[in-house]
Amino acid sequence: MFPRDKKHEQTNNPLGVRKEMDIIVMPTAAEAELLTARIIADAINAKPFYKLGLATGRTMENVYAQLVKMNKAGKVDFSRVISFNLDEYVGLKGTAEKNKDSYRYFMNYHLFNHVNIDKRNTHVPNGFAPEDELEAAAAAYEEEMEDAGGVDMQLLGIGRSGHIGFNEPMSSFSSRTRVVTLTKTTFEQNSPLFKKPEDMPMRAMTMGVGTCLDAKRLLLLATHKEKANIVAAALEGPVTSMISATALQLHDNAVVVLDADAASKLKYRDEYAFQFANDPKWAAYQPARKSSGRKTKAK
Ligand code: GLP
Repeated sequence: MFPRDKKHEQTNNPLGVRKEMDIIVMPTAAEAELLTARIIADAINAKPFYKLGLATGRTMENVYAQLVKMNKAGKVDFSRVISFNLDEYVGLKGTAEKNKDSYRYFMNYHLFNHVNIDKRNTHVPNGFAPEDELEAAAAAYEEEMEDAGGVDMQLLGIGRSGHIGFNEPMSSFSSRTRVVTLTKTTFEQNSPLFKKPEDMPMRAMTMGVGTCLDAKRLLLLATHKEKANIVAAALEGPVTSMISATALQLHDNAVVVLDADAASKLKYRDEYAFQFANDPKWAAYQPARKSSGRKTKAK
């Protein structure tokens, strides 16, 4: 099931195949967002026909703003990137392009409209399909990813319920793209983003946990205090389908970027900082260093 053996052969990752999760803690959210954008840009630059899995949510807005800046400055080229978004609401009115609450609209607004990506190469699950075609649309989405050769790197946020994508508690770790019913926690988290909170749909189409685990690399970003408890449970707690994000512990190439607030409940955060500061694979991502030698205090 996860990860598939053939994936190892296909891995084309400038940082090599990792066997443990890398946890990177930056002092501020802005620095965590910038670092996340740099990891994405570097991955695209290393492999132009990059299959990039994308995420929505407030956490990602500045990551995309940074990528837009880099693209405009000629530092990253999206022209051959193929993207696959994690999820989309089911039950919104009108069209994905025009409905301001849709994740397609979010992606166009924050990223696709401002970079040189070919929109035909951008994919978002079709939560706007007619009711009796939703299942087929979910299956077709899986096929599209497979036809593209799989996702090279999946960007992830984390919801307060511990969800990745919209994989709410009790989602099977082998789940694939499908329609799910959202939880009360997610309603409380996301409905303030709607003009009329009661307009938030109660269903969504999301990649499954198994779909996410099939990506060759996972990159999760979480920022701010409100995520501290769920981040600690996801990274240091026992693996459980009650918290979909714990599935990252089963992946062999997962990177987690946090700001100090989101990392504040991690028991071993000093260890992660020490490892990050001394890992040659992350040398290019270190904050400027004044002296040489072992770094004992990572920011
Ligand atoms: C939504 C998305 C998730 C996202 C989460 C976090 O529910 N489906 O993919 O990770 O929200 O959102 P935010 O970044 O706004 O905290």
